[in-house]
Amino acid sequence: MRKRGDPLPGTALCALDEIDEPGAKGLASGEGTSRLDIFLIRKDGAVYAYLNRCPHAATRLDNWPDRFLTQDETQILCGNHAALFRIEDGFCTSGPCAGKSLEAVPVEVKDGMVRIAA
Ligand code: FES
Repeated sequence: MRKRGDPLPGTALCALDEIDEPGAKGLASGEGTSRLDIFLIRKDGAVYAYLNRCPHAATRLDNWPDRFLTQDETQILCGNHAALFRIEDGFCTSGPCAGKSLEAVPVEVKDGMVRIAA
């Protein structure tokens, strides 16, 4: 459900070719109290997006810019306490928040741009 301050559908996040395949990219949408920190994962032709907030301690997942994936690029890694999440749905399979999920952000790719979906 859309909350007050969420980016409007159609809001451009970045160009698709700014994300490695496979790879990840962190970015912010909005400013001030409306700012949302988001990260995008591109894998096997799909793009997934989640809030950059670990369900364990509500901190960012990345300790280094754009570093959201395990070395083998098969899972999302929280750099703080090493929780692992499935790329496809953000479900935590291992770590202090096992059984919880990242908050998904609906996105779509249109005309080479990743945008907030309706
Ligand atoms: S803050 Fe992410 S696993 Fe602890």
